[in-house]
Amino acid sequence: MAVAVNILGLSGSLRRDSAHSAVLRTVAEQLPVNVALTLHELHEVPPYNEDLDGDMPPAAVLALREAVRHADAVLIGSPEYNHGMSGVLKNALDWISRPHGKSSLTGKPVLTFTASPAFTGGVRAHQQLNETLNAIQAIQVVYPQIVIGSVAGKIKDGRLVDEAAIAFLMGGVRRLLQLVENRSA
Ligand SMILES: Cc1cc2nc3c(=O)[nH]c(=O)nc-3n(C[C@H](O)[C@H](O)[C@H](O)COP(=O)(O)O)c2cc1C
Repeated sequence: MAVAVNILGLSGSLRRDSAHSAVLRTVAEQLPVNVALTLHELHEVPPYNEDLDGDMPPAAVLALREAVRHADAVLIGSPEYNHGMSGVLKNALDWISRPHGKSSLTGKPVLTFTASPAFTGGVRAHQQLNETLNAIQAIQVVYPQIVIGSVAGKIKDGRLVDEAAIAFLMGGVRRLLQLVENRSA
């Protein structure tokens, strides 16, 4: 069956063994056959600089903005670093937010999650991430905050293996897909 819905996955962690990237890979494997999730790496995205944000922004920025533009929905995972979202993700979102009023993320359905070895699951970063997405006017899924606590024991071989966490997460993904469906109806 042809892919009908494209989800873009963004991980706010550059770490090779990132729990957030592992969660994104897990979602990709659990999606219905007509839905695909592509992870877009943020390694090459330079620090935001308004001087570079003109007619010819850096290639990695153009690629990121286009990936968001072509996606039907976006799934974002951020680590909590010192009670905030990762700088890598905030930086990427700042680039994506421009040009002002023409962001490829504005009006786009988005689902977010955080994960942490702490029992708090990165909830403070989650809150901050939602606030930034409000500023960009992305359409956030109405669902309980997806925070995965004590994540270290829930990842195995680069995948999320905790059944309860997977069920909760996939409930949010289903809501994300419903939002996409409602918008194209
Ligand atoms: C600089 C730094 C700051 C961190 N601050 C927090 C924090 O405030 N709260 C928290 O729950 N975990 C914190 N952690 C732990 C991260 O949640 C943990 O490293 C997590 O696994 C990162 O996500 P990743 O596995 O996708 O790389 C911090 C880690 C680093 C490296």
